[in-house]
Amino acid sequence: MSKIKDQRLAEKGKLSYEWAKDHMKILTNTIDRLKRSQPLKGIRLGICLHITKETSVLLMGAKALGAEVSACGANPLSTQDNIAAFLASNGINIYAWAGQTPKEYDWCIEKMLSHKPQILTDDGSDCHSKVHGNSKYSSLKIMGGTEETTTGVIRLKALEKQRKLRYPVISVNDAYTKHMFDNRYGTGQSTIDGYLRAINLLFAGKRVVVAGYGWVGRGVASRAHGMGAKVYVTEIDPVRALEAHMDGYEVLTMSEAAKIGDMFITATGQTGVIRKEHVMKMKEGAILGNVGHFDVEVDANFLLNESKSVREVRPNLDECVLKNGKRVYLIGKGRIANLVAAEGHPAEVMAQSFSNQLLSMIYIAKNHKKIGKKVITVPSEIDKQIAFDAIKAMDIQIDKPTKAQIRYAQSWG
Ligand SMILES: NC(=O)c1ccc[n+]([C@@H]2O[C@H](COP(=O)([O-])OP(=O)(O)OC[C@H]3O[C@@H](n4cnc5c(N)ncnc54)[C@H](O)[C@@H]3O)[C@@H](O)[C@H]2O)c1
Repeated sequence: MSKIKDQRLAEKGKLSYEWAKDHMKILTNTIDRLKRSQPLKGIRLGICLHITKETSVLLMGAKALGAEVSACGANPLSTQDNIAAFLASNGINIYAWAGQTPKEYDWCIEKMLSHKPQILTDDGSDCHSKVHGNSKYSSLKIMGGTEETTTGVIRLKALEKQRKLRYPVISVNDAYTKHMFDNRYGTGQSTIDGYLRAINLLFAGKRVVVAGYGWVGRGVASRAHGMGAKVYVTEIDPVRALEAHMDGYEVLTMSEAAKIGDMFITATGQTGVIRKEHVMKMKEGAILGNVGHFDVEVDANFLLNESKSVREVRPNLDECVLKNGKRVYLIGKGRIANLVAAEGHPAEVMAQSFSNQLLSMIYIAKNHKKIGKKVITVPSEIDKQIAFDAIKAMDIQIDKPTKAQIRYAQSWG
């Protein structure tokens, strides 16, 4: 059972799936290694992730390990319709298409949940939140879940703190082999990709303001700098601000940055980072966008609903003429620009993130009774194994510590 845009796109989707698969050796090697033991046999998986070609490799892999897979998108705009069609024609129950209304997005999550998942994998925790906030889901027998991103983990930890968490959740985001690479290098590159596809203007010489110097912000700042931009950083955390300063960027407040930036990229996971008062100070032609999980970082409501006029001048780029006549531009309606205007992270980096997802699902299937109703990090043996698999797949050799080095590291005298 599925609802997608157009089943005829399945052949195109297959090509995209194969391209991603060929570049996700870390994940495919793991799937091949586990195929015979069928660790997910008969388990109903409910997946709420961005429906991209990389996600299709994870979903097909989980199916090959025995799972029954149902899926929906983690954002109304980010689904790759050809991939959804490919998955629908390969035995996955999928409810996803690009360009959904909020109501349709919600309906898709409900349809996915109607398959009574036992393990729930989410990106941003819209799905975990629904299961916790609506009594009609209280009878669902969920063994546990996983969560992909920083924002989702924050929401789950809030549930845990209030003792309302119903099942154990593994925070995939907290694995070193996830956030250090996916959030930093993945978002770093795909953000530039999304901005370029939306605007196709030069980065070199531009003043680019990055809001938030966490894992995502560091990656975005370094890639923008690499393209020749002058990078400015805004922060609320003094340690991160200091780090940005010593990395060579100018740190300033958003009120000051608003006056000088040519382009703005929010990456904080917070709400109201670029507000009306900031937009009013911006230069004619300023370009705004967001790569944090939710569309709450830039005040898109002000730009899209309170401007004198709004028109889509290029795909995923709205020109907003403010009441004072100034034009500013908004990418992807303020939604996660690297997924809306581009295709999300490159396959190699998603191979690491999704190896964490797959091994965490298997860990939940085996150990859910022991964990308790907690948010836990990916077990370190899984994280380390993925790092070894990654360097092996990239043909990187590393040294082994000598016996003397092991002794030295363990001595205290
Ligand atoms: N676009 C993607 O593909 C993608 C990938 C991974 C994570 N994310 C999302 O990106 C966001 C950031 O993730 P992260 O892993 O970098 O988190 P993080 O916690 O490492 O970093 C967030 C940073 O933003 C700063 N910050 C908070 N409020 C701020 C404000 N008002 N002004 C300036 N700085 C502020 C924090 O101090 C922190 O340093 C989250 O929403 C996460 O879910 C997106």
